[in-house]
Amino acid sequence: MLTKHSLPHKQSLTFFDSHYNLEEDVQTVYEKNQIVIGWPEKEERIFAKLSRPNTAAIVGIALGDEGKGRLVDNKIETLLKNKKIKHVVVIRYQGGSNAGHTVEKKGQKLALHLIPSFVFHEQGLGIMDQGMVVHPEDLQTEVSYVEEMVGSLQDRLFLSEDAVLCTDLERAEEVHNRALTDHAKGGTGRGIGPSYAHHYDKSGLRMYDLLNPSWEEILSKRYEQYDKLFSGFGESLSSTNVPDFATTVKSGKATTRKLGDKRTFLKRLEIARFWLLKREIVTNTYLLHRKFFKRAEVAILFEGAQAAGLDSWTGTRPDVTESNTTAHGVRDGTGFWQLHDITERIGILKMPYTSSVGARRMPTHIDLPKKLSDLSSDATPEQKWAAFIRDEAQEYGTTTGRPRDINLLDLPFIGYNCRIAGIESIIGTHLDICQEKDQIKICTHYTNKRGDPVPYQPGLRHLQEVIPQYVVVPGWNGKACQKAKAFDDLPIHAQKFLAFLQLRLGFPITGVTTGPSRSNFLSF
Ligand code: IMP
Repeated sequence: MLTKHSLPHKQSLTFFDSHYNLEEDVQTVYEKNQIVIGWPEKEERIFAKLSRPNTAAIVGIALGDEGKGRLVDNKIETLLKNKKIKHVVVIRYQGGSNAGHTVEKKGQKLALHLIPSFVFHEQGLGIMDQGMVVHPEDLQTEVSYVEEMVGSLQDRLFLSEDAVLCTDLERAEEVHNRALTDHAKGGTGRGIGPSYAHHYDKSGLRMYDLLNPSWEEILSKRYEQYDKLFSGFGESLSSTNVPDFATTVKSGKATTRKLGDKRTFLKRLEIARFWLLKREIVTNTYLLHRKFFKRAEVAILFEGAQAAGLDSWTGTRPDVTESNTTAHGVRDGTGFWQLHDITERIGILKMPYTSSVGARRMPTHIDLPKKLSDLSSDATPEQKWAAFIRDEAQEYGTTTGRPRDINLLDLPFIGYNCRIAGIESIIGTHLDICQEKDQIKICTHYTNKRGDPVPYQPGLRHLQEVIPQYVVVPGWNGKACQKAKAFDDLPIHAQKFLAFLQLRLGFPITGVTTGPSRSNFLSF
């Protein structure tokens, strides 16, 4: 059995020597059948005693699209079972409309990008906080799309006046950067990079600049600056094609539009500005935090976007997003809360594989054609497995439908991310995406060409030469997972798989999702 101290001990093993004790751990789970899951008995959670009760952070552990939105939705439901809780406030603290979070209720699916995943709960409220990048027209589009499906969000959705303002100018800048830099090519094109860059170089604007009575002057000046810059590069700002979010949301296809001249640019902003003012959505969220902190009947959820593997400093540089995607990002993204205020810090991990969008190529990448129908008849078993996954789990981007890359589960990468993300437990998703006939390869550690162990390090350049080493474990019946009501009902090989991951990573696995609907969720 796991002892009280064995999990943190395992965490350092994963971090410093990912190959260590491997045979013994395989035997423990797969031969001796010691299947231990969840928090070890009497585990001391010191920080929980110091923190604000009923707070939780939900962050991605690998490369995004793990199903965070859906888990936020599940968590709200769990919190509201406590009759003392009257409201759950969901706070997005970083990222922008580069994110895509899907929530589902009774077969009704909603793709959210900026709006936190509270929309299916009447007792839910949402804050888009200062750490976010917000394009006002995107927000207007998304609010009307969501309100058509779930009714009014009036007085339940708030946007920080300090949020980073993104306009078509930053999007044009991203288009320009892409032409110059290979690294920028995998980006979503939503202007996230340039907007954050101008937060750091202090030249950027905030939501309060748009609401300022002199907004026209401020934004005219900005257009002129960009125009000069583009002319300097021999390019035309007004005829640059920028992503058109509103049309993309309606059509489900990535669409662009010409940025247009200064008048067109200002006119578009004026419409969005008028809407923001009429909605009274922009507010001082710092004061909201102060208020909510003291109210015991209010639960707080921090909804991360993207994932630890995309963090700007500790992710797969250079193909990363530009914010702090971990639980540590809560501090900067709210300007109020800090890590140790948060009672539960949960990392979300897609299993038994990792998907990825972008230009990066991970060591456990499986080559697949863009269209599955192009898969050749002599495809390897691995490629066939990846094709099954892409199809079964519909691994296509939430907004643009881009096919996602499929990678084998990579424990050195995940172990590093678990440690660096400030989490203390894991919830797994997609456990039902598996077949009994599958042989699942798990990358346990890396070696160099000489066979010596090498650690995972953030940054793609460190991954070029590593050779992933694998264990192969049996698959399980995914459909049977969907029917499970408790851990013991899961197919035995799914149980062993979870126990093995817990043992190797050193973080308790405290729940899994076994299908798309709210009820397909098991808590251990
Ligand atoms: P950016 O955030 O648009 O700058 O994109 C930077 C990198 O992060 C690219 O590889 C994107 O594909 C990736 N990325 C950004 N947001 C998400 C997300 O929500 N899920 C998965 N990948 C993302």
